[in-house]
Amino acid sequence: MGRVSISLDIIFYEDKNYQGRRYECESNNTNFHSYLRRCNSARVETGTWVIYERPNYSGHQYVLSRGEYPDYTSWNGLNDRVSSCKMIHVVANGDPYKIQLYSKGEFAGPVFEVTEDCPSVLEKFPWSEVHSCRVQGGWWVFYEHPNYKGHQYLLEKGEYRKPVDWGAVCPAVQSFRRLTE
Ligand SMILES: *[C@@H]1O[C@H](CO)[C@@H](O)[C@H](O)[C@H]1NC(C)=O
Ligand SMILES: *[C@@H]1O[C@H](CO)[C@@H](O)[C@H](O)[C@H]1NC(C)=O
Repeated sequence: MGRVSISLDIIFYEDKNYQGRRYECESNNTNFHSYLRRCNSARVETGTWVIYERPNYSGHQYVLSRGEYPDYTSWNGLNDRVSSCKMIHVVANGDPYKIQLYSKGEFAGPVFEVTEDCPSVLEKFPWSEVHSCRVQGGWWVFYEHPNYKGHQYLLEKGEYRKPVDWGAVCPAVQSFRRLTE
């Protein structure tokens, strides 16, 4: 069958290798768990997406850029559950990428202003935990482990007074990067 050229942005599949039931999203979606009980593969046709284990943008989160994901380990998934997603419009002409990191909650203690990716917080800063931060421009992703591994957290412009504000249960941030197209 000929494929109609419409904009399908992200497609989730029940089984590995794009098999089983599918569910397509073209914009942010707070809850599709009732349509897709499990998710084992996905394709991102356009855009950059953050997918969440639980409804309402909660639970484990993963950043996916354009490409093919034949099983959930290919997005570093911890299980086969995806229930909500957000599309990120990475605009090139927005505010320049800038984030202020604090080693204490509520913006206390010394502040470190950052504009570049950092594969190892331990090598660059005198601490490995971030307890609060302000994103002044761009989109950022925090990682629990060095070299962009482990749990990941999307940060958009705004204030984060404590780790739960970016969806984390603990303050371990050992690498971070700018989210670009
Ligand atoms: C999602 O959030 C809405 C609004 O806060 C709430 O009414 C709804 O119960 C939440 N759904 C789930 C599954 O948590
Ligand atoms: C989708 O979510 C992103 C990230 O929170 C936000 O920037 C964007 O405006 C949302 N899009 C819509 C259509 O609500």
